[in-house]
Amino acid sequence: MSIDVNGSLAELPTDARVSLLDFLRDHLQLYGSKKGCDQGACGACTVLVDGERILSCLALAVQCEGRKITTVEGLADGNALHALQQAFIDHDGFQCGYCTPGQICSAIGMAKEAKRGVPSYMSADLAADVTLTREELQERMSGNLCRCGAHNGIIDAIRETMAAEMAE
Ligand code: FES
Ligand code: FES
Repeated sequence: MSIDVNGSLAELPTDARVSLLDFLRDHLQLYGSKKGCDQGACGACTVLVDGERILSCLALAVQCEGRKITTVEGLADGNALHALQQAFIDHDGFQCGYCTPGQICSAIGMAKEAKRGVPSYMSADLAADVTLTREELQERMSGNLCRCGAHNGIIDAIRETMAAEMAE
């Protein structure tokens, strides 16, 4: 049983109780994804599974057999940061950085949801194309908490980067 993590195949644990988060951190030594609450409340553990954002503390590693996992470590292209990583730097989107990997993975998954028209609580017309306004982004990223209060910079970074992506 194996999964693809950031382009490399990894053997899944034999213990079916291991969460995806613990597998990434403790078995693969990928420490970017953080364990904040370990109960689905903070978003610090968010990773992408086949491009969709999930809370890795609430998923079992064995559930992901045969799927493609992307963590924050898999976003940069060599020394070239992902555009959203650079935007977080440019917009002061972090202080301690603890929530940042989850914020970035979540934003990438969120943009994909928006692109295919998934509505949010803020969407007035459920059938309309999604425009990533500030209010939409605040709602769609509300599952990712930042104890440092860097939310303004986080939203600015996502808005700049993802708005350009939506226009493609
Ligand atoms: S550690 Fe997974 S949501 Fe907080
Ligand atoms: S930057 Fe510190 S928790 Fe978000």
